[in-house]
Amino acid sequence: MAKLDFVDELLQDLKEQNLYNTIRTIESPMDAWIVVDGKRVLNMCANNYLGFANHPRLKEAATRAIEQYGVGPGAVRSIAGTMSLHLELEEKLARFKNVEAAISFQSGFVANQAVIPTLTGAEDVIFSDELNHASIIDGCRLSKAKTVRYKHNDPADLDAKLREYNSARRKLIITDGVFSMDGDIAPVDEIIKVAARHEALTMTDDAHGEGVLGEGGRGVSNHFGVHDKIDIEVGTMSKAFGVVGGYVAGKAKIVEYLRQRARPFLFSSAVTPPDVAACIAAVDILLESDELVQKLWRNAELFRSKLTALGFDTGQTQTPITPVLIRDAAKAVAFSKALFENGIFAMAISFPTVPRGTERIRVMNSATHSEEDIRFAAEAFAKVGKELGII
Ligand SMILES: Cc1ncc(COP(=O)(O)O)c(C=O)c1O
Repeated sequence: MAKLDFVDELLQDLKEQNLYNTIRTIESPMDAWIVVDGKRVLNMCANNYLGFANHPRLKEAATRAIEQYGVGPGAVRSIAGTMSLHLELEEKLARFKNVEAAISFQSGFVANQAVIPTLTGAEDVIFSDELNHASIIDGCRLSKAKTVRYKHNDPADLDAKLREYNSARRKLIITDGVFSMDGDIAPVDEIIKVAARHEALTMTDDAHGEGVLGEGGRGVSNHFGVHDKIDIEVGTMSKAFGVVGGYVAGKAKIVEYLRQRARPFLFSSAVTPPDVAACIAAVDILLESDELVQKLWRNAELFRSKLTALGFDTGQTQTPITPVLIRDAAKAVAFSKALFENGIFAMAISFPTVPRGTERIRVMNSATHSEEDIRFAAEAFAKVGKELGII
């Protein structure tokens, strides 16, 4: 047997389980309608909630930044100095989140790798919602702290688990603000009360809350009116903000310590000047107006009401993320393919991204869609749903 034969076996195994992901190629900007593998289709799977990925103001800001700062940051910020653009973004993000300070990272994924292992160690315990995002799970794995999973969105179970580990040096509770596959919102107000009883630190990952929830899209902390009670807020610039990057926001001393010790800050170069300038423009737009956030919610509510009226199961969602549950991996893939033939780009999601038996089409609503687009999408779902015996 050749030494790389095991890779063939692993790939074959994925194919046999209908878990092999064939990644489509996009040949246009990210927008409501995109060209995928040569076909113009309605885009219902991007996290581009507000349409910033192809927004003229962001593109103009990026172009101007290239003229002024070039295309690369040159080196790690702590070694070769930080560009003023990165500092401007961090100040704006702190203002947007209504906290003392923020520090930017290369992505939301990296932000979790940065903050979790830096603030916790072998004598600490992390309490993590069982459905938290993979980047939180990996951040916990990088930390030497013990990780205890509590039941999804269950403050009573969290309370019980905290009681069990009462003697830990530091306790850190971590939850997604909005769960990326189900669209449900963490009960952050309740979690904070539990945390206070046990003197535990709290951390939210607001990747799907910012730009979506709260006043003008300020996120889950604003939604619950608790921005001053969450110790660490992680975010991404790649979803509602439409670009790339991540950040940690909170108390100035936490940010100061992350600048000294977070390994992705110390050992990896920052996001490029045009990216950062586009991110600043995105935050500026949200600081000025909530028009796009309102449109996003109108579209999401229209789409969900149409799908539930048709008899689809859209799970527990409370946000524009709309899971359309198929509950079978092969059928979910067939559903996505048939949607594509009918002009809709919406991907099937299976294990390990979601638990087995909860396979789904994950629909992402966006402010870029028109009412006509939503009606077109609902008609395609109805047609395919009947053809495949889902409704
Ligand atoms: C909850 C959550 N956190 C973090 C991330 C990672 O964000 P990024 O794409 O910026 O790395 C995602 C993206 O899928 C997410 O859904």
